[in-house]
Amino acid sequence: MTMISKKMQEALNMQVNDELWSAYLYLSMSMDAEAKGLRGVAHWMYVQWQEELGHARRLQCYMIGQNARVELMPITEVPTSWNTPLSMFKDSLVHEKEITKAFNNLTTLAIDEGDYATYNCLQWFVDEQVEEEATVRDIIDQLDMAGGDNLGLYFIDHQLSERKNPNC
Ligand code: FEO
Repeated sequence: MTMISKKMQEALNMQVNDELWSAYLYLSMSMDAEAKGLRGVAHWMYVQWQEELGHARRLQCYMIGQNARVELMPITEVPTSWNTPLSMFKDSLVHEKEITKAFNNLTTLAIDEGDYATYNCLQWFVDEQVEEEATVRDIIDQLDMAGGDNLGLYFIDHQLSERKNPNC
């Protein structure tokens, strides 16, 4: 018997799906960047793919710990090509804002249900979203500053290649 309501279980399952979709989106961005010779962008997106898998896993582990049922759903298709790194990161920011909204809604539900265990679990994600949006916004600012300048893009790409992989 789980302490989490059916409504909350369904909402968390949706979020697991969203995180897996995010992972797939970033993997697609990584593959597109590889195809265009942007090795640093490809690396950054690959690390982000792993982060998103970690987010999905964190939610799954919480649900399993609460004896809730994790039900995997189909992952819908993702875009496969972006015109520029700037459009790629802008899409990332739009997506992360949607994820932030989803965690805010989950938090509201947890409060409404008096489900403070889930509320606590969600706070990690609320903080994480602040960081994710800020990081992507910084990269967008840098790409904006570089404009269409190839040398600027070369340096930003190099900088992105130095992103640490949290898993190794
Ligand atoms: Fe799992 Fe990028 O939020």
